[in-house]
Amino acid sequence: MAVTLVVGAQWGDEGKGKIIDCLADTSDLVVRFHGGNNAGHTVVNKFGKFPMHLIPSGIFNKKAKAVIANGVILDLEVLVKEIKMLETAGINLKGRVLISPRCHVIMPYHKLLDRLYEEAKGKKKTGTTGKGIGPTYADKVSYNGIRVADFFDRKNFRDKLSTQLLVKNKVLKSLGEKPLNEKEIEEKYYRLFIKLKPFIKEAFSVVSGTVSKNKKVLLEGAHGIFLDNDWGTYPFVTASNVLSGNITAGAGIPPQKLTKVIGVTKAYTTRVGQGPFPTELFDKNGDLLVEKGIEFGTTTGRKRRTGWFDAEILRFAAKLNGFTELAITKLDVLDQFKEIKICTHYALKGRRVNYEDGDSLFLSKVKPVYKTIKGWQKNTNGVKKYSDLPPQAKAYLKEIEKQVGVKISYISTGQERESLITI
Ligand code: GDP
Ligand code: IMO
Ligand code: MG
Repeated sequence: MAVTLVVGAQWGDEGKGKIIDCLADTSDLVVRFHGGNNAGHTVVNKFGKFPMHLIPSGIFNKKAKAVIANGVILDLEVLVKEIKMLETAGINLKGRVLISPRCHVIMPYHKLLDRLYEEAKGKKKTGTTGKGIGPTYADKVSYNGIRVADFFDRKNFRDKLSTQLLVKNKVLKSLGEKPLNEKEIEEKYYRLFIKLKPFIKEAFSVVSGTVSKNKKVLLEGAHGIFLDNDWGTYPFVTASNVLSGNITAGAGIPPQKLTKVIGVTKAYTTRVGQGPFPTELFDKNGDLLVEKGIEFGTTTGRKRRTGWFDAEILRFAAKLNGFTELAITKLDVLDQFKEIKICTHYALKGRRVNYEDGDSLFLSKVKPVYKTIKGWQKNTNGVKKYSDLPPQAKAYLKEIEKQVGVKISYISTGQERESLITI
């Protein structure tokens, strides 16, 4: 099983960081291939607790190399801070981290525009992380991006910045903002580039070489399938393609090399930001999920919306991505519930409907149809063996497998690396 992809099967924050940290122990290369620091992947292991935004969460396996591939967009300041955080914790990064010069850079105007678009949309806002993600990807696809490679020739970088500011400052001014100072940005960003320079190297030959030698590559998906720009709940999505097919554009790995696709899902559902969420709870059960699951965003600290497990979206995600297996996280969060519900499918005006039948407006109208399962009301936190799970917890997992049609290979029962059942 040479090339394994870990992908979020819901709306993000499924616990991908935790699963990657566990799987990285047997990997040679760990690769991020899309998104930016809108991702926040929490890793809790013997080195400490880390909110990872850009560097792959598998970096804690000392033998593995970590690649930030071309599909990722970079906030240089955040990346410099993250490197410092890891080095302070005693993680050696020299010669182990590769940053692709093809990565696009999040510039100050992207962050400003992100905020301004959100403000302009008012109640209809997306609820972005405010990290400049949409405007940076928009510049990438409209040939206005600045890439890491552009910094190698300082004059080239200055010229590109100058051209962009010609337009961006006019836009900012028209929206009541002060124009940005070219010299200040040029100097600040060039200084950041110099700090990152030792890590910048085209990673294609390393990635391709590792794949062709049949060594183990672990791809770290960010966000979640329902935030995918094409297949998610548009416009309440993110700007990149989250799905498994994006490994070719984002990391240069041919599709047929993918051997395993692990869909990571919480044992219930959460979402941050706006957009439809058919199984959302607005009662004490929802509050209990927030409380027990400590459901606050790793990147923005926002309270996450919570709801029951939704098998309808999981089935769709499995078909779209070709899930070969599932990793279920946060089973322990359900320990106290007397009854637990699983949404088996959606109905609209008395008819069964599917996720893909309509848009976000349609999804805001569908009614989830539930099956109720008895809770186990026993502690599962930290359980490491399947046989040690209460019978009702096993029955719940079996029901998820049956509804989704994909086998469960990993069950996470706590934040720490050790709290994992491997089947
Ligand atoms: P990611 O973005 O998919 O990596 O997920 P986040 O790190 O943003 O959010 C998941 C949160 O759940 C983090 O605080 C994790 O430490 C925590 N977590 C992961 N797995 C488990 C688990 O099995 N049980 C509990 N209680 N917490 C978990
Ligand atoms: P990880 O990798 C949860 C959501 C935002 C917002 C929408 C668009 O930690 O699972 P953006 O800033 O990307 O333009 O925001 O996407 N979003 C996430 N929600 N986890 C994430 O990443 C997310 N990345 C983006 O909340 O609704
Ligand atoms: Mg997260």
